[in-house]
Amino acid sequence: MKHLLGIEQLSKEELERIVDDAVRLKADRSLDGPKPLLGETWAMIFTKSSTRTRVSFEVGLNELGARPMFLNANDVQLGRGEPIKDTARVLGRMVHGAIIRTFDQQDVVDFAEYGDIPTINALTDEEHPCQILADLLTIKELLGGWEDKKVVFAGDGDCNMGRSWAWAAKHLGFELVIAAPLMFQPDAAFIERLGEAPVILTEDMEFAVEHADVIYTDTWVSMGKEAEAEGRLRSLAPFQIHADLLKKANPGAIVQHCLPAYRGKEITEEVLEDRADEIFQQSENRLHAQKAVLLALRRGYFRG
Ligand code: CP
Ligand code: NVA
Repeated sequence: MKHLLGIEQLSKEELERIVDDAVRLKADRSLDGPKPLLGETWAMIFTKSSTRTRVSFEVGLNELGARPMFLNANDVQLGRGEPIKDTARVLGRMVHGAIIRTFDQQDVVDFAEYGDIPTINALTDEEHPCQILADLLTIKELLGGWEDKKVVFAGDGDCNMGRSWAWAAKHLGFELVIAAPLMFQPDAAFIERLGEAPVILTEDMEFAVEHADVIYTDTWVSMGKEAEAEGRLRSLAPFQIHADLLKKANPGAIVQHCLPAYRGKEITEEVLEDRADEIFQQSENRLHAQKAVLLALRRGYFRG
């Protein structure tokens, strides 16, 4: 069975193929196009909030002919303690695929194993692979590709987005600089698992942004970290994306944010509004990239 559990498990070829398929799907978004998932039902089990991921998957599934079944984890027995492996064994006998947003990566791994149906990680504390695929599509559209580009991820470098970016840099070979205070850089165990990769960790925001092509940020308080909000906002304040900082980047550099954005925290209102076109293009690309993922799972070309 093939799944999308993380960027970690993908190959360069798989990443490139998804992005190429997404380009084609975006160019031809006809509602009367082929429906390769016709008659299927896909469960969407979400333990955390979502706007973009939920809407883009519901619309994408509809466009490919499948019916999305949204299940708030609190409304199903999972929320009352039924184990994920039992939930997976039940759903695996009824639905054709599962899209899961939760905390623990192991829950998505277990669901894939016990459900025996295509399973997509729609964000865990460990990774957010669907977002990265949309980001790569956007970089291809706006910069022509990621080869020889310098990507900076600023802020909480140890969150799901920082980690997924690190795997993307490893597989695709572009330079990634993670600019974060020491305590918010990927931990030693992750760096060891990552192995050799073109990833630089720094606490120096100005050095990071010098000659950058993509300046990327994310909330400083990821879902589940709300209790740490005060300390995080204090420690991460020097890592804000603001107009003066962008002057150090390469001409033509783009600003990206997976959203939701917290203005005045990780990014200023001025930069967010000034770069709204590229940021909301990135957001739209969630739809096209995820349709490509659904097709890839149907055709079975993920190894994961
Ligand atoms: N970027 C992203 O995943 O947004 P949502 O949390 O709204 O799905
Ligand atoms: N790191 C953020 C991403 C939101 C899309 C979070 O996990 O909340």
